[in-house]
Amino acid sequence: MKSTIIIATAVAALGLSLGASAADQNAAEKAKTLCAGCHGPNGLSVNPLWPNLAGQKADYLQKAMRDYKNGTRNDPLMSPISGTLNESELAGLAAYYAALPAGG
Ligand code: HEC
Repeated sequence: MKSTIIIATAVAALGLSLGASAADQNAAEKAKTLCAGCHGPNGLSVNPLWPNLAGQKADYLQKAMRDYKNGTRNDPLMSPISGTLNESELAGLAAYYAALPAGG
């Protein structure tokens, strides 16, 4: 009986950690395919007119993307791409870039 509980707990914990890493993986994949062309593979942009995202605060990044998405903020490059992402994708991307080391 006791071992059943232990196994069930282990399976639940495994499920949770798999869920989290799948979300991270998804954000990393999206960043690579959708964002890296402008914001750089490490979140550091190569164009002086494009902002670095690495190390920025996650809440700020998420709000900026939400603002492009809902039209509060408007940019011909960012508005269309933000419109294709849902709130949980925005959160995942924001967390991904916030966790990268900031540039000098
Ligand atoms: C075609 C180039 C391009 C692509 C692709 C692109 N961005 Fe941007 N991004 C920009 C530019 C240019 C700005 C600055 C726009 C402005 O002046 O408001 C910007 C601004 C931002 C900002 C606001 C930064 C700040 O400091 O206020 C965030 C957050 C952001 N981008 C995230 C993303 C994410 C996440 C992706 C991928 C889903 C992405 N961008 C894809 C060009 C791009």
